[in-house]
Amino acid sequence: METLRLETDQDSIEEAGKIIREGGLVAFPTETVYGLGANAYDARAVKSVYSAKGRPGDNPMIVHIAHFDQLEDVVSNVPDIGRQLIEVFWPGPLTIIMEKNEDIPDVTTGGLNTVGVRMPSNRTAAAFLHSCRVPVAAPSANLSGKPSPTTWEDVLEDMDGRINGVLMGEPCDVGIESTVIDVTGEHPVILRPGFITAEMITRSLGLEVTYDPALFQDPGEKGEFHPKAPGMKYKHYAPKAQVQIVEGDEEKALAMIASLSAQAQDLGKKTALIDYGRDSRAAAKDFFSRLRELDRENVDIIYVYALPEKELGFSVMNRMLKSAGYNVIHV
Ligand code: TXA
Ligand code: MG
Repeated sequence: METLRLETDQDSIEEAGKIIREGGLVAFPTETVYGLGANAYDARAVKSVYSAKGRPGDNPMIVHIAHFDQLEDVVSNVPDIGRQLIEVFWPGPLTIIMEKNEDIPDVTTGGLNTVGVRMPSNRTAAAFLHSCRVPVAAPSANLSGKPSPTTWEDVLEDMDGRINGVLMGEPCDVGIESTVIDVTGEHPVILRPGFITAEMITRSLGLEVTYDPALFQDPGEKGEFHPKAPGMKYKHYAPKAQVQIVEGDEEKALAMIASLSAQAQDLGKKTALIDYGRDSRAAAKDFFSRLRELDRENVDIIYVYALPEKELGFSVMNRMLKSAGYNVIHV
């Protein structure tokens, strides 16, 4: 199939919306990462998203909406905590898990009776979702297991020839996927950390928020690993290169990296360093695209200096640790 390169003018956005209504797949920018959209009501279209990505069928998709009115087309009820979160954080990088409406087919939610819903703030995303006139199921627009794409060129690297079109929008501002929060229980639980942190939610709403305990586990080490978001159990964000995280005092860590690099280079390996200091915002925005860039440069080993694991740093470290297969040296 030929993948259309679509501009972001109104006519092209209308064309993208029409492709979605006809059962096709279009990748679009959001403030977090690029998504691969399909009509959330169309089971056949949603199935083709799984096959285009090579994604396991039990991993549910996030449903994206353009207006508050569309919420009742997707969920069966909005709990009070959900309502409060929506008021403060939508549109924006927060996905809220609620009970699904019966019109949403089981394939969209991987067989679960809940659905993750999100209203993106990115202007191209909003215009595209508006033009679709249906809720849009969209995972990140990468091949399953690869780093999420943050530019349309990165989308094409994985998806050219596998999808109907890509909206050639701007690079993503946040750079890591949305925070996923479950509000179906008594207290809200974060299933995937993202730009909106537990601290931000507590500060603005006074709500106590916990993280899914599986987020603090190394899946390789412990016997039992049952994260509540099915997607968190899969291998993720893995570049071709091997990733090695080094954490601790900066000076010692960089000295350790210099010595490991020198040894690897002696064995003919090409190495690279990723070091954002303590700047989690810059790290979020850059990390996925940098992994892809280093793969294009055929780097063999990437050393990453760890971020402080609090607030946004915790969310970015979640991606860094997965990309490294939890390979960490403490100095
Ligand atoms: O920022 C984002 O969230 C991007 C953009 C495109 O919106 N989308 C995205 O989708 O990252 P995806 O499919 O790559 O990740 C969705 C995550 C997965 O870990 C999935 O298991 C979890 O959300 N999830 C979705 N629906 C769920 C549900 N009903 N219950 C628990 N986890 C759910
Ligand atoms: Mg993804």
